[in-house]
Amino acid sequence: MDQPIGVIDSGVGGLTVAKELMRQLPREEFIYLGDTLRCPYGSRPAEEVRIYTWEMVNFLMQYRIKMLVVACNTATAFVLDELKQNLNIPVVGVIQPGARAAIKTSQNLKIGVIGTTGTIQSKAYPDVLRDIHSEIDVYSLACPQLVPMVEKGMLSGGEAEKIVEESLSPFKDIQDMDTLILGCTHYPLIRPVIQKVMGEEVTIISSGEETARDVSAILSYNDLLYNGERKPSHKFFTTGNLAIFQHIANSWFGYQLPFVKSVRL
Ligand code: DGL
Repeated sequence: MDQPIGVIDSGVGGLTVAKELMRQLPREEFIYLGDTLRCPYGSRPAEEVRIYTWEMVNFLMQYRIKMLVVACNTATAFVLDELKQNLNIPVVGVIQPGARAAIKTSQNLKIGVIGTTGTIQSKAYPDVLRDIHSEIDVYSLACPQLVPMVEKGMLSGGEAEKIVEESLSPFKDIQDMDTLILGCTHYPLIRPVIQKVMGEEVTIISSGEETARDVSAILSYNDLLYNGERKPSHKFFTTGNLAIFQHIANSWFGYQLPFVKSVRL
């Protein structure tokens, strides 16, 4: 089926999922929308996140998307069920895949989760993790300073390290936590900094890979995979500053994305 797949996030974070989707599904065409103008979503009330998420979805619907990937943990925590109930296309979020990947990886089932205030307060990760395995110890921590830092393009260096170190300091006293879930899709952009602060003995999990595997399986199950010869022409939209979005996107992908535009919702 030659319709595109929609990917949404509050900003540049979902690019970490989009890159993995494009790697695992090279024939598929993706349309990405980052609501950079209103980012961060993570400190907004649930109702606001719900309204903004629907605005993004309605924008992507103009492109007749055949599937929606909610590449934002905050929107997944607050709106995924409603989207699934109301859209007549498959919808995938990032929390379930991230939780599954962490359980596969952890040796001692002591798992940390960092995310936005909204995601952490929603308790979506502990709920999903314990649904899969009841014996898990989950340590949750909101890190509201990290998304604004990433959106500014501050991805490495002394100041970034200082902010990450401060944000993660409550985890210092926790013994034996062997796995850390990046419960916000912005965080893989600063993964090396997070790894340095946490130490090499902690395995870091981002949900992109596992989410892309889910998307692939769902497309295949629903007979929605594209089988033709067309070369995909992906489109990336941001509601915010085009130059900053392009800068972060190009450095994450390692090449210049051919179609990046700003848009108003
Ligand atoms: N990237 C988003 C997430 O995964 C949210 C960042 C934000 O807008 O606060 O939660």
